[in-house]
Amino acid sequence: MSQYDEAKKRVALEALKYIKSDAVIGVGTGSTVNALIDVLPQVASRCQAFVASSKVTAERLKQVGCLVDSPNQHAFVDVYFDGADECDPHGRLIKGGGGAMTGERIVASMAKQFICLVDHSKLVPRLGRFPVAVEVLSMARSQVARSLLALGGDPVYRENFKTDHGNDVLDVYGLPLTDPVRIADTIERLIGVVGHGLFVDLKPAFTLVAYEDRVQTLSY
Ligand code: 5RP
Repeated sequence: MSQYDEAKKRVALEALKYIKSDAVIGVGTGSTVNALIDVLPQVASRCQAFVASSKVTAERLKQVGCLVDSPNQHAFVDVYFDGADECDPHGRLIKGGGGAMTGERIVASMAKQFICLVDHSKLVPRLGRFPVAVEVLSMARSQVARSLLALGGDPVYRENFKTDHGNDVLDVYGLPLTDPVRIADTIERLIGVVGHGLFVDLKPAFTLVAYEDRVQTLSY
């Protein structure tokens, strides 16, 4: 196992400590979350249910023997675990590298507690080096792209990719993110936008950060 994978396993094992008996667990998407899924069988028998943020996560959960419910079967999830592409000092995140941001936003919005799991390379002083993924209805892609250009971003169509919901993704580079809440709000209002990867409203309660030899907890 590489040092990188060991760090992910370490943060995954730390995350297990936050799973209480009979809890409904929301599960995000990505390689860090996959490390959590690998160790979930250690606690799965005392969990009530698992709610997945994406098809790929649902499949992985089933492979390790976890029962997967639809978000529609629950009013809330007790705790939601997910990774991130960038995490700033306020716990604001850029997500969506895997294109699952809309499902991730849905399950995060149901969470009593959101815990972010990252390795230390994801910590940034300010958001913006990683592109902001925007999920759009196909017929609105060009119109939304023009609006994103007007906002100061450089939208790039993610080719040969469809989301779980059959939509397109624009990866937006260079957005001016000095006020990310305003930008997120503006993106949400564009007609045809289904979701985006700027998690500035749905922030984690804390982030577990994997280093080579330890796990750090960053609370906000
Ligand atoms: C998927 C995501 C992931 O959480 C994000 O891309 C981080 O992934 P990884 O843990 O593989 O670095 O937002 O849409």
